[in-house]
Amino acid sequence: MAISRRDFVLASLAAPISFKAVTRLSRQRPQSNSKLRVAKIGCGGMGNDDLRAVASHPMVEIVALCDVDRRALDAWQLGTKDKEGKPVPPQFPQTKAFADWRELFASMEKSFDAVVVSTPDHMHAAISMAAMNLGKHVYCQKPLAHGAWENRRLAEVAASKPNIVTQMGTQRIATKWRRYGAKLLREGAVGRVSDLYAWTNRPAGWWPQGGARPAGSDPIPAWLSWDLFLGVAPERPYKDGYTPFNWRGTIDWGTGAFGDMGCHILDVPFYELELGMPLSVRCDPEKATSDQYPERETVIMKYAAGPKTGPNGLTLHWFDGGRLPDFRALGLPEGWEGGKTGEEVVKGDGGVIAVGDKGVLWFPIEFAWSRVFVDGKPVNLPTEDVGASNHWHDWIDACLAGKKDACVSRFEKGGLLCESLSIGAVSALDPGKDLQFSPESCAFTNSPVASRMLRRAPRSGWAVANL
Ligand SMILES: NC(=O)c1ccc[n+]([C@@H]2O[C@H](COP(=O)([O-])OP(=O)(O)OC[C@H]3O[C@@H](n4cnc5c(N)ncnc54)[C@H](O)[C@@H]3O)[C@@H](O)[C@H]2O)c1
Repeated sequence: MAISRRDFVLASLAAPISFKAVTRLSRQRPQSNSKLRVAKIGCGGMGNDDLRAVASHPMVEIVALCDVDRRALDAWQLGTKDKEGKPVPPQFPQTKAFADWRELFASMEKSFDAVVVSTPDHMHAAISMAAMNLGKHVYCQKPLAHGAWENRRLAEVAASKPNIVTQMGTQRIATKWRRYGAKLLREGAVGRVSDLYAWTNRPAGWWPQGGARPAGSDPIPAWLSWDLFLGVAPERPYKDGYTPFNWRGTIDWGTGAFGDMGCHILDVPFYELELGMPLSVRCDPEKATSDQYPERETVIMKYAAGPKTGPNGLTLHWFDGGRLPDFRALGLPEGWEGGKTGEEVVKGDGGVIAVGDKGVLWFPIEFAWSRVFVDGKPVNLPTEDVGASNHWHDWIDACLAGKKDACVSRFEKGGLLCESLSIGAVSALDPGKDLQFSPESCAFTNSPVASRMLRRAPRSGWAVANL
């Protein structure tokens, strides 16, 4: 018997019914072999954008939805309202819906080709690895994973699977602005780079950081599968406000302002300057606690010399929570932001200043062209439009064409970037100390407390092969 999602919700008011039951009763949609059959895991927040973007490709069929928050599924299956309160009709009323991605994988293994993962950071690796273990293509949100080890393993396993196409969700890299900045770095517009100064305004005003673990517990709402939200993370009682969105400042689930924004801001410089693992990292935080990342911080990471760095290597200086580099001391003149976006450029999403032996490059995160300065004066370079593409569709096209290496943020690259940045993200756990990183052991040689988050054991019952 087929049952619509609306019927299910009405029925469930009288008699609670599990997502498992919905799955069994939902009608299977016919499938076409020529389309990429996508299972969507995490359907609220950025998952909305991901689902819209992937479903807009004419060769995609969305065959399953999964979310631990029933409201996120209902919005897609029963309809919702837009920002102005106008009704939005149901988009996938008959698509199979799950609360537990493991159940989806087990019951639909033969019915999907690819997954898109837009859950909180702590679940990225488990879901993406389980999908790759089944031979599925994966698009996973940034940061690729929670800890250094998970990032490394996703990169290694993706590299070992010739038929799997992967992409990390750093969609800004496909914009004309970032492509132009990449070209400048690639062509050596500022020479060999000795320092990167990067910043973001997060977390202030966006999500909580710097707080102690909330005391007590709240009743688990009927719309939430709390145990499934926790997944691989350690057990803890539910508190209102943990999810959606605010989880990202909590060490168990998110990667803090650095891990969250660093991959958008530093991906191109990292790739173009061919960086790898840091030698050492030092954090100067304010209000760091054992439960949340700090309210604001400065993180210094040292990288060994390479062909694109200064002869003594490269130092990354990271600022967040309102802290900023001293732009004037870096040789940037009055009005260096081009005068257009002023305060917003400096205090907004973030950007990078790359200091090279030939000049200084301002590389904004998005919506502005990079600029080069020599001896404190702007260099008039043509702001050449080097094109842009749709990051999600690039992945879909690569899956359909079987072109494993076509994606610019494939796991082999994204995993290396996120492993490196995750080492900086956890440095607040042992502040004011030069933490020495050993790539061989994937640990700090002088900090057991911070090493714990580089490679964390999953909660009992949540181990996934290859992680
Ligand atoms: N690329 C970007 O520009 C961008 C922007 C925002 C967020 N993100 C990334 O997207 C991810 C999600 O962030 P968000 O802001 O959308 O968070 P969110 O909390 O708003 O949304 C996450 C969704 O996943 C669901 N979820 C949680 N655990 C799940 C599980 N185990 N299985 C299935 N569903 C689960 C939640 O209920 C929620 O609907 C994060 O990794 C974040 O870094 C990327």
